Amino acid sequence: MSARALFYDGGRRALDQHLNDMAEGTVDKKGLFTAVEECRDHFAALIGSHSDEVAFTRNVTDGIAAFGAALDWRAGDSVVVCEELEHPANIYPWYGLARKHGIIIKNVRQKDGMAPFGDIVDAMDERCRAMAISAVSFAPGFRFPVAELGAECRRRGVHLVVDAAQSIGVLATDVEAWGVDVLAASTQKGLMALYGLGFLYVRRSVAEQLQPALLSRFGVEQEGHEASLGDPISGRLAPGARRFDVGNYNYPAIIAVTPALKLILELTPQAVEDHAFGLAREFADRLLAIGLPVYGGRPGHWASHIVTVGAALGYDHDSAADLSMAALYEHLVANGVRLSIRRDLLRFSFGLYNDRSDIDRVERLAREWVRGQNTAPRMTATA
Ligand SMILES: Cc1ncc(COP(=O)(O)O)c(C=O)c1O
Repeated sequence: MSARALFYDGGRRALDQHLNDMAEGTVDKKGLFTAVEECRDHFAALIGSHSDEVAFTRNVTDGIAAFGAALDWRAGDSVVVCEELEHPANIYPWYGLARKHGIIIKNVRQKDGMAPFGDIVDAMDERCRAMAISAVSFAPGFRFPVAELGAECRRRGVHLVVDAAQSIGVLATDVEAWGVDVLAASTQKGLMALYGLGFLYVRRSVAEQLQPALLSRFGVEQEGHEASLGDPISGRLAPGARRFDVGNYNYPAIIAVTPALKLILELTPQAVEDHAFGLAREFADRLLAIGLPVYGGRPGHWASHIVTVGAALGYDHDSAADLSMAALYEHLVANGVRLSIRRDLLRFSFGLYNDRSDIDRVERLAREWVRGQNTAPRMTATA
């Protein structure tokens, strides 16, 4: 339920095996490349893309920055973001480009925990090149109508860039239906694996117009051994997003995430979403029933697997400016509940491995805490 998911035991076993092979010197490089392609195929299947549209990165920031750095910017081009709702991973890369190329960042203000659709559309002027948004925000955790925005971006020739850090592996994702050009994800949350590995999806027709900032051996079409020089002067870039691959891969993290990808595909992404979203909805209702200020009130259409508690979005992380919320957080943590505080809100995040007993336990602890309060906690449910 916290800032990262539990490491799936199937991934743990695969990683242990790999580490043993490394320690014993029995690793076979061809086998590693096979593992990389297997992982790429599974991730592509998860998001409804082709394998050639998927590259490996270090994390979400790396993916967004790699895409941004490959566009041919001109001073005065613009990018639309909603800074109050986006994680720094989806903000800094754009400001990096602003510093370097003089592009303009157009910031849309949040309203009730959402980036207002109309305001985003209004902010996309004729110099707009990209709109960057999280499919599920890290706080307060609402989904965004990505498909509607995708259609709007396409009409205007704007690249829709999606930060899928919170959504991947939980929210059923279809890059075709969503109409996104770029999606960046990492593996330590809904994919139940390790830090330090990310995926970058770039639509083939977009990727093939791009020249990544880094020219690398793995980013060009190769024949022969990986260590052979190839043609660094005029060798063709690898097809699709493969041109964003760099050098040797994070093999341990790739091996560690593949079993979770397989599991989610077997269960079906929709079933995983239904499970996690259903638990979150029930949890939110139960917290509201005991008088806690679930952000946004009763879960509505844009609710996700994340439930946040607190009256207003703020600026604190891992501590809350609202002292009663900080006290509730301490009470839950002291009793072994794993949650986080993001933007001043207590954040509960549900995954595949949670079940109703988790809800029962947290509800019991929260009820206990509410009873122990001299004054009732605030009842306002929205901000
Ligand atoms: C919405 C969102 N984006 C990105 C990240 C992480 O970014 P990175 O993978 O670059 O560290 C997080 C949190 O870990 C997040 O919640």
